[in-house]
Amino acid sequence: MKEINIGAAGFVYENINELSDIDKNLMEAAIEATKKSYAPYSGFKVGAALLMEDDSIITGNNQENAAYPSGMCAERVAIWKAGSSFPNKKVIKIAITAISSNKIVDKPVGPCGACRQTLLEYEINQAKDVEVIFMGQIGKVVKANSISSLLPFSFDSSYL
Ligand code: THU
Repeated sequence: MKEINIGAAGFVYENINELSDIDKNLMEAAIEATKKSYAPYSGFKVGAALLMEDDSIITGNNQENAAYPSGMCAERVAIWKAGSSFPNKKVIKIAITAISSNKIVDKPVGPCGACRQTLLEYEINQAKDVEVIFMGQIGKVVKANSISSLLPFSFDSSYL
C-alpha cells in the first residue's frame, strides 16, 4: 500500500480584476452569456465562454425545460456548440459564472460532474489541457489547469 495525493492544481484570485486581460475578457463573455440564459424554473442563470485556438470565443448558457431533466447546463451547451460547428478547433480555456434571482452568488461556480465528464472527452481528443476559470457573481475566481484535474480517476474511452 502507498499513499497517493490527488488534488486539483490551480490558482485562486481575489476578484475578476486580478485576472489577465485575456481571462478577464473571457469571463466578461461568460457574464454576458448569463443574460441570455433560459432558467425560468431555477432562476439560476449560468454562462460559459470558450476561448478557441484561433482566439474566437464561443458562449453558451443553461437552457431549462418544464420537464426538468430535459434541460441542459451552460457548459455543455457551449462545448457542443463548439464541437458541432468547429470539430477541429482546439479549446484553450473555459470561463464559467452564474447569477441567481434568489440570492447573490458569492462562491465560484464550478462545472457539475456531468459537464466535467463531457468536457473531458474533448480535452482528451484534442490532446491539450483546457483551463477552467470560474467565479460567482462576485468574489473569488478559481483557475484550474485542466478538466482532468477536476475529475480524478475518470472514465474514458481507453476502458472500452
Ligand atoms: N447548471 C449549469 O448550467 N451548469 C452547472 O455546472 C451547474 C448547473 C444549471 C442547470 C440548471 O439550469 C441550473 O443551473 C440549476 O441547477
